[in-house]
Amino acid sequence: MTWLIERKRIETERLVLRPFEEADAAVVQTDVANWDIARMTTRIPHPYPAGAAAEWIASHGAAEKRHGEAIFCIAHEDQAVGAISLRRNDPAAVGPDTAEIGYWLTPRVWGRGLATESASALVAHAFDHPQVSGLTSGYFSDNPASGRVLAKCGFQPVDDEETWSEARQKFVTSKRLVLPRAAWQAEMGEAS
Ligand SMILES: CC(C)(COP(=O)(O)OP(=O)(O)OC[C@H]1O[C@@H](n2cnc3c(N)ncnc32)[C@H](O)[C@@H]1OP(=O)(O)O)[C@@H](O)C(=O)NCCC(=O)NCCS
Repeated sequence: MTWLIERKRIETERLVLRPFEEADAAVVQTDVANWDIARMTTRIPHPYPAGAAAEWIASHGAAEKRHGEAIFCIAHEDQAVGAISLRRNDPAAVGPDTAEIGYWLTPRVWGRGLATESASALVAHAFDHPQVSGLTSGYFSDNPASGRVLAKCGFQPVDDEETWSEARQKFVTSKRLVLPRAAWQAEMGEAS
């Protein structure tokens, strides 16, 4: 089945998830340079090079074609406050038709349930695509806030692994989690 997660506008109670625009680059550049964000992610370098946010935003079309990656801006009150993405997993490594969810939010809005609100919306959007059999995610073991976000979205722990952190320039123990479609549907059924 064709793999494409539609990068459409998604509205939640307090947020809009939408494709990034060139105009978001300045705020992303400042936020992602923050060590408290970079150190909790696998791929963000630190220090964050000048111009990297604009380059990253310009690469989203290619990331979609090459890696089946759908990257969304999290906007709150008309301003970019974070990013959330679904990236197709290597079928040989993880099994067919799954995607990895990842996200970050600016510290200005932490602790208000916004990561949970955006992740829940993107999980529902992922499962709107019939080809998606399940989702995966992970968080560094010193990032319990992200663990809570994923637990609140229904993810279940699988195992621990050592994962490279570009910002820390070392391997860090990370907790791996999964959310199979059937488990999500069962949870949605119970919630309704
Ligand atoms: C992780 C992150 C996305 C959380 O964003 P947020 O909007 O504050 O998250 P939410 O408010 O939706 O939920 C956070 C939950 O973690 C809990 N929490 C926060 N700090 C915690 C801590 N030190 N220990 C345990 N739980 C913690 C909160 O109480 C909340 O749970 P609750 O609703 O049950 O009370 C944000 O801190 C972030 O972007 N960090 C940097 C990048 C990052 O970690 N990305 C994820 C990589 S896996």
